[in-house]
Amino acid sequence: MRNKFLPSFVQRKGRITKSQEDNLNFLHKYHVTSHAQILLEKNNFKRIILEIGFGNGENLINLAKENPQNLYIGSEVYMAGIGQVLGAINDNELANIRLVTGDIRLFIEEINESIFDEVLIICPDPWPKLKHHKRRMINSEFLDSIYKVLHSDGHLFMSTDWENYAESIDESIGQNLDFKVLSSSPYENIMLTKFQQRAVEEGRKIYPFSLKKI
Ligand SMILES: C[S@@+](CC[C@H](N)C(=O)[O-])C[C@H]1O[C@@H](n2cnc3c(N)ncnc32)[C@H](O)[C@@H]1O
Repeated sequence: MRNKFLPSFVQRKGRITKSQEDNLNFLHKYHVTSHAQILLEKNNFKRIILEIGFGNGENLINLAKENPQNLYIGSEVYMAGIGQVLGAINDNELANIRLVTGDIRLFIEEINESIFDEVLIICPDPWPKLKHHKRRMINSEFLDSIYKVLHSDGHLFMSTDWENYAESIDESIGQNLDFKVLSSSPYENIMLTKFQQRAVEEGRKIYPFSLKKI
């Protein structure tokens, strides 16, 4: 599929381990390529939650372990992270994770109904240089696309550790009147992911955004 979006991710050079690579042989068991596959399973679960850019999957795995009643759709393009999550699914015998492996914006674009109860994005790639800001995933157009796939009362949680990205997210939220800004979210207190941990160690603040679809 040709991608009409500018790349929002860096092709990470990070080495894939042998076990992560072996785990990829089981991807087909969890891989979803169309939202119709998710809808087929919706009656078996209480809520359907999408985590975009799960990285190494610490948060995705934790949530899935703690909430077996919910179905978690993990989205990532980074093969080592996908391999890592497949290993954790196997080790923890998790039956409530499915994986989307391409650019999530293309997957979402094909969905013409509300299917998610929650969407989470923790520390999206910050693209700190001004000339790269246009590659940032979260902008007003992206918020519109999430709005369409969220159920009414659905929850969108985003966080970033880059002040300048937080300002631009704030601006995009201001342009989108269809979300109510909540003062807090349970996701503010979840375990630290790899990128959040790094931000804390480097003395950066984490800016959370919690929105409800009106
Ligand atoms: C900075 S990392 C954060 C990873 C993790 N959430 C964390 O906090 O440790 C951002 C992740 O988003 C993924 N990503 C970026 N754009 C994406 C897209 N369009 N579709 C799916 N994943 C994407 C990248 O591959 C990367 O692993």
